[in-house]
Amino acid sequence: MDKIVVHGGARLEGELRVNGAKNAALLIQCAALLTSGKTTLRHVPQLSDVRTMSRLLERLGCAVEGDRTLAIDAAGVGDGPCEAPYDLVKTMRASVTVMGPLLARYGRTKVSLPGGCAIGARPIDQHLKGLEALGANIELSHGYVNLEAERLHGAAFVFDTVTVGGTQNVMMAATLAKGTTRLENVAREPEVQELATVLNKMGAQIRGAGTSVIEIEGVDELVGVDHAILPDRIEAGTIAVGAAITGGEVLLLDAPVDHMHSLIGKLEDAGVQCVVEPEGLRVYGPDQIEPVDVVTRPHPGFPTDMQAQFMVLASVAKGRSMVTETIFENRFMHVPELQRMGADMHISGNTVVIRGVDRLSGATVMATDLRASASLVLAGLVAEGETEIRRVYHLDRGYESIEERLRGLGANIERVSGARM
Ligand code: EPU
Repeated sequence: MDKIVVHGGARLEGELRVNGAKNAALLIQCAALLTSGKTTLRHVPQLSDVRTMSRLLERLGCAVEGDRTLAIDAAGVGDGPCEAPYDLVKTMRASVTVMGPLLARYGRTKVSLPGGCAIGARPIDQHLKGLEALGANIELSHGYVNLEAERLHGAAFVFDTVTVGGTQNVMMAATLAKGTTRLENVAREPEVQELATVLNKMGAQIRGAGTSVIEIEGVDELVGVDHAILPDRIEAGTIAVGAAITGGEVLLLDAPVDHMHSLIGKLEDAGVQCVVEPEGLRVYGPDQIEPVDVVTRPHPGFPTDMQAQFMVLASVAKGRSMVTETIFENRFMHVPELQRMGADMHISGNTVVIRGVDRLSGATVMATDLRASASLVLAGLVAEGETEIRRVYHLDRGYESIEERLRGLGANIERVSGARM
C-alpha cells in the first residue's frame, strides 16, 4: 500500500490549474445513461472514483473510452441487467445515482443498498421517496432495491432534508417522465446546477437549478453531448488552505470563485488575502492566522467537504476557533490523528473547539476518508519534521496526483509506492 511522506516547513508558491470537479464528473457520467448516443466529457479528473464509475457504466453495457477526455456510448445498456452490484456500490456511494437514469430510460433497475460509510449512516430514503412520487414501484430484498415503472410521470415532491445526490437522482429521472415535475427543498450545490446544464444540453427542460425549487418538463428522449467539466471548488479550497498555512502565495488558475464565496469569506476572516483575478484566485498566506468559527451548511453555506482542511488552519491560528459539522454525524475522524500531530482539539457533540498551537509536529498518521486524508497532508506541510500518511487510497479517490501538484508548488512531499503497513 502506498504512503505519502511530507517534510514540513516549505511555503507553497506558484500557479496551479484546478482540475475538473469529482462530484460533477461522477454525476454527468451517470447522466450519459439517459441517452442512446455518445457523450464526450472533457477535463475529467483522473481519480479512482471516476474510474469506478466508468467500470460500473461498462457493467451496465456502456462502451467507455479515454481518460482525461472520456467518451461514453450508452447504446448497449438496455440489453444488460440494469444492475448496480454490491461490490461497486460499497466502494463508492455515488453509484446509487445510476438509479434515476436507468429507471427513467429502461423502466427497471436493481441497485445495491449502500449501507453506512465512514462519515455517517447516509441513508437513501429521500432518493427512493422522490422516485416513488414519480411512479416507481419499489421493493427492497436481499440488500438490493428493485425499482420498476411503465413510464414515470411528473409529480410535486418536497425533500424532507436537503440532499445533493437525492436531488440529482430524482431530477435525472424526471427528465424523461411524462408531464411536469416540481421538486422543492432541493440542494443548490454547483454540481446540481452543472448537472442540470448538461441535461438541458442533452435536450431536457429544467428550470431553477441553483435555487431551492426545480421544475422539469419531461421530454421523450435525450441525446449525447460534448461537455467540459467545471473546475473543482474543493480541490481549489484545499490548496488555498495549504497556501494560507504555509504563508505562501498561490494563483489557482480557473478556480470557480463564484461557487466559493463562503469559503473565501472564512479565509479572509482568518486573515488570508484572497484576490480574484481574471485567471483565477490568488491566495496570500498571512504571517499570523486569526481564529475563525465555521458551521457547515448546504450550499451556499460553508461546505462540509472543506471542514477537515479548515480545522488544520484553525489548529495553527492565534486563539480559539470552533468548527461545527451539521451535514454528517461522524465526520471528525481526522481529529484524533491531528491531535497526534500536536493539535489542541476537543470534540463536544458536533462541535470541535480548537486552540491554535505554534507548531504541529510530524507523526505517522492514518487516512480514514477522503477529506480527512487531505487535512493530514495539509497538517504535514506545516508540521515540524516528517509526517507519514498511510492508507492514501482515500486521497486518490478525490485528488489527482496530489503529491506531484504540491511538489510543483514547492512542498517537500513524496509518495512511497507499495509501502508495507
Ligand atoms: N440524507 C438522508 N437521506 C437521503 C440522502 C441524504 O438523510 O436520502 C442525509 C445524509 O445522510 C447526510 C445529508 O443528508 O446527512 C446530506 O447528504 P447528501 O445526500 O447531500 O450527500 P451525498 O449526495 O451522498 C454529496 C457529495 C459529498 C458531499 C455531500 C454534501 C457526491 C458524489 N458526493 O454526497 O462529497 O459531502 O454531497 O455536500 O457528490 C466528498 O467529495 O468528499 C464527499 C463526501
